[in-house]
Amino acid sequence: MKSVLAWLREVRSNASSVGALLPSMPAVGNTIRKHIKDDGKPKAILELGAGDGAVTAQIVQVLKPGDRLELVEINPSFCQELQRRIHQEWASYLSGVEVVVHSTGLQNCQFHRRFDVVISGLPLINFGSDQVQEIYFQFQRLVSDGGQLLSFEYACSRRLKKFLGQLTGNRDLVKTCKLIEEFHHKNQVGWDPVLLNIPPMKVRRFYLGAANVKDESDSETVADCDPNQSDIRPSKTCS
Ligand SMILES: C[S@@+](CC[C@H](N)C(=O)[O-])C[C@H]1O[C@@H](n2cnc3c(N)ncnc32)[C@H](O)[C@@H]1O
Repeated sequence: MKSVLAWLREVRSNASSVGALLPSMPAVGNTIRKHIKDDGKPKAILELGAGDGAVTAQIVQVLKPGDRLELVEINPSFCQELQRRIHQEWASYLSGVEVVVHSTGLQNCQFHRRFDVVISGLPLINFGSDQVQEIYFQFQRLVSDGGQLLSFEYACSRRLKKFLGQLTGNRDLVKTCKLIEEFHHKNQVGWDPVLLNIPPMKVRRFYLGAANVKDESDSETVADCDPNQSDIRPSKTCS
């Protein structure tokens, strides 16, 4: 209850960037977790828009010593909650797992490695078309060859938004919706409905051809967020 009230407080002041009336219910994380395969090798997982950890709470349960988990979250209050949960609630799952929380927007982060699984809860539908295009480019770079992108969104919300955009003459919103549709059409390999959420969600799966994207760095190290690019607050990687 306390966490729902905290969530609603953030929705009131940052509705567009939070992009959800309520945190995801466990069914969303459980659906995502099913698609994280264990091939016996250490895995690197990146979650974008981790919020207060509603999905992360399920993901940590499939991690093993040697794995790596990176979380990106723009909202400082949610980041504090993530830190609390990492150190208190999830400590037993995270023993031997390297965890990094990037307390800033994805646009301010530079990664020098790729991830076996990228999970996105980013509310792309609320972003401008330029930002969505940039994020799609980043997705291509972030998913390793043979890796996957799992993203979730409210069922039907995009169709409704596109209709509203057309009705009100909001061209950029319509362009954002079209970009999202094109990306799905080109890259999606499947999706699962999640009815046990308010409102119901779709978890989408994508395989991205990362090999086709030029990568200037093959370094295994992870660079922190770029402090020169932060326009929200000083970039901070808190771990
Ligand atoms: C729809 S919520 C999902 C939260 C959580 N994963 C869940 O399922 O309950 C989207 C989250 O993305 C975060 N967010 C929005 N824009 C972002 C950005 N540019 N970079 C990183 N996080 C962002 C919001 O603060 C919010 O926590």
